[in-house]
Amino acid sequence: MFALPLRDDVRLCPLEPWHAEEFAAHLDRARAHIRPWVGAAFVTDDLDGARATLRRYAERQAADGARLYGIWRDGTLVGGVMFVSFDAASGACEIGCWLEPAAEGHGLITQACETLLDWAFTVRGLHRAEWVCRADNERSAAVAKRLGMTLEGVRRASWPYEGERYDAQQWAVLAPEWRTRSV
Ligand SMILES: CC(C)(COP(=O)(O)OP(=O)(O)OC[C@H]1O[C@@H](n2cnc3c(N)ncnc32)[C@H](O)[C@@H]1OP(=O)(O)O)[C@@H](O)C(=O)NCCC(=O)NCCS
Repeated sequence: MFALPLRDDVRLCPLEPWHAEEFAAHLDRARAHIRPWVGAAFVTDDLDGARATLRRYAERQAADGARLYGIWRDGTLVGGVMFVSFDAASGACEIGCWLEPAAEGHGLITQACETLLDWAFTVRGLHRAEWVCRADNERSAAVAKRLGMTLEGVRRASWPYEGERYDAQQWAVLAPEWRTRSV
């Protein structure tokens, strides 16, 4: 078990099945805020659902695939970042994120994503990291831009939500761009 300090009062830590109760309580604070913008399977309604999500990520991590990390501020789980997918064979991954409303606006997600990108590119030697968000998700697109990603295109009507279909943006950054980015 490790905890990586992001700031004095903030730590990034693997979010694992033993956190299920904490994760369920956090989702109660975050659910309405994140539901329109993240994958439907992630927004569960009770403890069993929260535990199932954490188990699903644990199983994928055991296969060197997707991974989930929580952000704790002053000891409270306030959000997190993840490898939605991670494929060492093809050298590509996709990163995702979420926060409860009280934790927005402090740069926590940008900083946590930088940690994931550094690990993916530097330690694991991946070549490409993707970011997919609803085209009207301005805060998410702003994170991708802060991370030095390029908007590569729009997947038209690819995001179903409550009976409507929304466009999605695909952003990505490549390893050489990450290494030479100006911070
Ligand atoms: C997407 C989401 C995680 C972005 O959260 P966020 O707080 O805007 O992103 P960050 O944590 O990187 O913070 C950036 C904000 O903090 C500010 N900030 C303060 N200190 C900062 C720092 N050291 N570094 C970067 N930004 C900093 C930035 O100016 C920015 O504020 P602004 O938007 O008012 O300009 C959040 O809006 C969310 O949970 N949305 C719902 C779920 C969702 O959309 N998930 C993504 C699915 S693709």
